[in-house]
Amino acid sequence: MTPADMDRAMEIAQDLKDAPHWPLAAYLAALEPQGAPRRIALVAEDVKTGIVVGLAVASLLPPQGELETIAVVAEGQRHGVARRLFAAMAEELRAAQVTEVMLEVRASNRPALAFYHAQGFVETGRRPRYYADSQEDALLLGLRLK
Ligand SMILES: CC(C)(COP(=O)(O)OP(=O)(O)OC[C@H]1O[C@@H](n2cnc3c(N)ncnc32)[C@H](O)[C@@H]1OP(=O)(O)O)[C@@H](O)C(=O)NCCC(=O)NCCS
Repeated sequence: MTPADMDRAMEIAQDLKDAPHWPLAAYLAALEPQGAPRRIALVAEDVKTGIVVGLAVASLLPPQGELETIAVVAEGQRHGVARRLFAAMAEELRAAQVTEVMLEVRASNRPALAFYHAQGFVETGRRPRYYADSQEDALLLGLRLK
């Protein structure tokens, strides 16, 4: 992820109500090469325009990894962008000796839940009223990487 990608990533997330709205400092920290935990950030570009249309960020503490965010611009959704992003992320995670991926998601985020289930994630727990803004539960999902 380049600095320009980072600006675009923030733009994409800001336009999506369910994406985490990280401040710039969080992206900078996520991309700090010596930062801990180590993170992998991937972007998907439109093949014709080169414009970034999706992003995914995961943190790694092998053998575990956490998918911290995955988001695709609204007009680019349901065309397999997130599926391809996650496949690329899973490959990177495997190469880094990660065998288990976890994530948390708002219980009301049906598109994301459908996406995660389609990738093979299963529910492993629930954190009641985890999100302070809406008092909403977080669902914890996990996936074993083969
Ligand atoms: C979740 C999200 C990343 C999915 O991105 P996407 O590029 O549209 O997903 P894909 O096209 O790769 O979908 C792959 C499969 O996931 C499932 N899926 C994805 N979105 C779905 C939806 N809205 N409803 C039902 N199933 C869905 C389907 O099985 C889909 O396969 P299909 O289209 O062949 O039926 C996208 O909806 C998004 O950016 N949401 C807002 C941000 C967010 O909530 N991120 C997650 C929390 S950080």
